[in-house]
Amino acid sequence: MRKFLILLFCSLTVFCCSCAKEEQPLSGTGEDDTIVVGLSQVGAESEWRVANTESMKSTLSEENGYMLIFDDARQEQENQIRAIRMFIQQDVDYIVFSPKVETGWKSILLEAKEASIPVIVIDRYIEQQDEQLFTAFIGSDFYRQGKKAVTWLEDFLEKRGRGEEPLRIVHIQGTIGSSAQIGRTKALEEAAGRHPNWEIVAQECGDFTRAKAYEVMGAILKKTKDIDVVYCENDGEALGAIDAMEEAGLKCDPVDGVIVISFDATRLGLEYCLARKIALNVECNPLQGPYVDEIIKKLERGEPIERITYVDETCFDYKSISREIIDGREY
Ligand code: AHR
Repeated sequence: MRKFLILLFCSLTVFCCSCAKEEQPLSGTGEDDTIVVGLSQVGAESEWRVANTESMKSTLSEENGYMLIFDDARQEQENQIRAIRMFIQQDVDYIVFSPKVETGWKSILLEAKEASIPVIVIDRYIEQQDEQLFTAFIGSDFYRQGKKAVTWLEDFLEKRGRGEEPLRIVHIQGTIGSSAQIGRTKALEEAAGRHPNWEIVAQECGDFTRAKAYEVMGAILKKTKDIDVVYCENDGEALGAIDAMEEAGLKCDPVDGVIVISFDATRLGLEYCLARKIALNVECNPLQGPYVDEIIKKLERGEPIERITYVDETCFDYKSISREIIDGREY
């Protein structure tokens, strides 16, 4: 009962913190053996994000010895900073957060350090100068994901005898300044720099959502339909771009249409891969809860931890994907 009341109190204060300007000094930790974790999630912009939140909530659960205080920042960095500050005031045992962008975390992480609260960064990275201000990182190597995508494309074009042909690429980017966008963009731009026949004919932000990508792709198609490749920085964007292309009468197919490249490999993204509308889907693994649990339990036992952990990830193309793979997916 007491734990319930504390949880209710914590949830209400998170809510109030998001709404009110003035912050109250707070207290509230779990019973002695309960590990209290404050989690600031960037938002709910994609299927991937929903799966990531679910992984955190189901792992950092009461049955597993945790009390989780969850805050959805609704895509605002200032909401994340406010939530983290409140977790510090509540004197939680651990702070976990998925940073919207790479920069701007120094002051708040210094506050956490001064309060001796370990911070675990998940999903996206933060800029190098702030690296010493967190205890552990668990997430993706987005540049590596981008390299997988461009290497696949180079190989695919080469095998089809198109390696030297002009290649017109539309690039739909994720939230600008997020490490997911920075890494995936860098890999594509580097590859375009290496291939004089590759041209990025349009580069627009789709903000990792289907709706925004549909809108920007629609605007691009008004200017040109002469497109060979659409490189989308997540599945939501790929689906939105495909909707817009199909409406404009373009076929999405790696062999005789537009080659669509995507990231995440959510179940729906893989359905599109099976239907050949997405040629390549590079996996971005949202199931990070168990990794966070392992790190926290090790810290609790005073054991050494891996400071940087990249989650396991693979990729699927229109040839390697199958119904069995999709049915076996957790997200
Ligand atoms: O940071 C991970 C990225 O953010 C995923 O690719 C995307 O779907 C999410 O919104």
